[in-house]
Amino acid sequence: MDNFHFVLLTVCLVLWKSVIADIYLHNPRGGNNRLDEENRNVQNNKRMFDSQNNNRGGYNVGSLYYYVGSTLHIEWTNQHSCSNPNSHCEIILQYMCDDQLRDGASTNTIPLNPDDCRLGNCNTDKEYGMNENYEYYLNCRSRRRNKGLFIADQNLNNRNRAINTRQNPNGQRYGYECPEERDYYPYWGPTPWMDIAVLTNDATRCPYYRAESANVKPRYGCVMPAEVLQENIGRITLPNTKEECEVYRYPSNDPDGVLAEWREVPAFGIEAPDCRETQFSRDNHLGNGIGGHALVYNWTIPNTVHENCAMRIRYNISTGDYNGWNTTYNTDVDAQLAAKVGLSENEADQRGFLFENNPEVKVFSDANFELQLAVNTAQFGRTFEDRSFAFAIRPRPAGTEGKTISNLNVRGKRGNIVQVYPSVEYDFIPNNLEMGTSNYIHIQWTGSNTNNPNNDGNGQARSDRNNIVQLGDPTYDEGSLTRFGPGAVYGKYGVNYPAHAVNSSFLGLSEEDLLHLAFNSPGHFGGELSQLDDAGTYFDLGLRMISQEGTYHYMCTRNNDFSNRDQKGRITVLPYLTGTQPIGLGGGTLALADNKAKVMVEPGVFPTLQTLQMEEWSPDLAVGSGTLRSEPAGNDYASNFVVIRPENVMTQNGATFTVQMQVDPDASNVEIYRSKSQDMASWTKIPSSVDAGTASFQVDQGGVYVARSHQNLGPIIGIAVAGIVVALVVIATIVYFRRNPDRFQRLKSGARKAERSVQNKV
Ligand SMILES: *[C@@H]1O[C@H](CO)[C@@H](O)[C@H](O)[C@H]1NC(C)=O
Ligand SMILES: *[C@@H]1O[C@H](CO)[C@@H](O)[C@H](O)[C@H]1NC(C)=O
Repeated sequence: MDNFHFVLLTVCLVLWKSVIADIYLHNPRGGNNRLDEENRNVQNNKRMFDSQNNNRGGYNVGSLYYYVGSTLHIEWTNQHSCSNPNSHCEIILQYMCDDQLRDGASTNTIPLNPDDCRLGNCNTDKEYGMNENYEYYLNCRSRRRNKGLFIADQNLNNRNRAINTRQNPNGQRYGYECPEERDYYPYWGPTPWMDIAVLTNDATRCPYYRAESANVKPRYGCVMPAEVLQENIGRITLPNTKEECEVYRYPSNDPDGVLAEWREVPAFGIEAPDCRETQFSRDNHLGNGIGGHALVYNWTIPNTVHENCAMRIRYNISTGDYNGWNTTYNTDVDAQLAAKVGLSENEADQRGFLFENNPEVKVFSDANFELQLAVNTAQFGRTFEDRSFAFAIRPRPAGTEGKTISNLNVRGKRGNIVQVYPSVEYDFIPNNLEMGTSNYIHIQWTGSNTNNPNNDGNGQARSDRNNIVQLGDPTYDEGSLTRFGPGAVYGKYGVNYPAHAVNSSFLGLSEEDLLHLAFNSPGHFGGELSQLDDAGTYFDLGLRMISQEGTYHYMCTRNNDFSNRDQKGRITVLPYLTGTQPIGLGGGTLALADNKAKVMVEPGVFPTLQTLQMEEWSPDLAVGSGTLRSEPAGNDYASNFVVIRPENVMTQNGATFTVQMQVDPDASNVEIYRSKSQDMASWTKIPSSVDAGTASFQVDQGGVYVARSHQNLGPIIGIAVAGIVVALVVIATIVYFRRNPDRFQRLKSGARKAERSVQNKV
């Protein structure tokens, strides 16, 4: 190739790379195959997995740990759209844990040949990053590909294994990931990835996803000893069916050949994944969801205690040009295309309406022009991916049961927005945290010392450092202060000076904790800390129970740099528990951490995605709130006030969902009433059933729900009836004695005698 053509080819490849859609994981930090390289671009985009992302994405290695049951805000940006008619979109969140899982120490891809690894074992060679293990890849490498899959015009002749797919026809290796498993979900073969959630444009597929998930359904695979596969790479093709597997031997003509084995891999035995509609995101924008926020999934860390876990996010987009879910290897997509544009197949062929790479189409039959379309059949229907670094899942400390644990971390990397793109600048995550009083916060962050040397930032070049210090109060009166919740407001968002540290009562934490948060101690002693340069990248305050209500504004003193970059956050400690759960067509459950209130939505009840929010106010709080203008009927409150938002009708055709709330088991005649949280002026009685201290009822809308007890009327009626009888007797007696006065006199003297006799007894 002469130089000119080489340059041209390179330019084309670069251009080709830059037009692709992507997904970038921001919290936990997504690696996009990076380790800790100092370059802006990832050194080796085949290190761990096939992201198909732009090489500029990704953060350097950094690990955290999370407590079981704590809430982690998984945040990402996807470049094409979701929940938007312009493309089909699925987002699949998964995680895996394995003793050998690691980030590695070099940017090289883990070798295929064990002889190239220390002690001849790549699974244990810590030099290389590894998620899926060697045996897993070897099996994929040696297994026949699913020949029913649609491959468009991609050339897969003689490429017959599960490493060859429409998106990866030449079988390129990316770590130990299996390309066929990567491209398809739910995957039919064994996989180490456990499902967290599936978010899809087509939520009617949710029952299918939930039923097929490897969480709940076993997988089967054809296996042979790794040594045999390793020695015969390129020669063995393991079949995909039981019948074929059980008679497969290698070498096939040798009666002493090694027999393959059809093996069941049990389901993970965990809950089926959460499944719902995707949130809206705008086409060609990395990060614009509704309200300008990046996309989020709030993950409740599962009870899978392990020191080495990783999570993975995949973003599957496909077009409306063929029906991806119903198209197989023998579907005639060209015929469908011809029919769609209203041409005979012959004419469609002549005019370029073919499903092939970069077709030149003649749009107007009489004008002799052709327009070239940018079609890549390997990418019409395409999956992008990002993965976290290794993290740990640790058991909850005793005594934290029934409490929420909110993870508060830092996302982003050193540099200005242009330098870090498509990653993001520093921010606290969640940036605006709401938590109920007497619940827990886990403050922790990590970073890198090897960012790109030219990236802007304060303190030592290349280094990420963070701290938390409460912001100061306003220096002058700017008019009304915006309040974000009950309790005091600490610090003002718009200022850039911290509060006097010792006087600050940030979250009601001890002075020692405030010093730790400010100076990254303990773990670090002395040194130059004005810009935290001598501190480390990692900091962990551990769990803290927060019991001081209020709205707290805080900053990072090093990175906050007004007019360049901003690093501030807000925490609101509410006097009640709160919870959020998006629930759509697939149904779902929203429960508060104390399990006293629960919303259960059956599949099909919500026609569209609703971000359900629930709060639980004590009666005292509700009465003091100023919005309780009249009390519901009854005598006493027999439950907390449960607020469910949105408060409008969320169902169609009279469908209902279930609300359960804990009621006082000793209360009598409990009835449930509903009103609106903004103005509790009138109350509607809701039919309910009460059993063992739990009231259940069916509703079609949010609002405030509360249980009231009603005094038992039986005895009251009894007393009233007795009273009337006594009164009648008295009246009758008076009438009688009026008519017969002498009898009354006799009675009086008798009564006096009786009085005396009683006195004698005393
Ligand atoms: C992506 O969508 C296609 C249908 O267009 C489907 O066959 C495939 O399994 C999906 N892959 C993933 C990873 O969701
Ligand atoms: C995630 O949780 C936060 C509260 O911590 C809530 O504001 C947000 O709506 C939730 N988002 C989703 C998509 O669940």
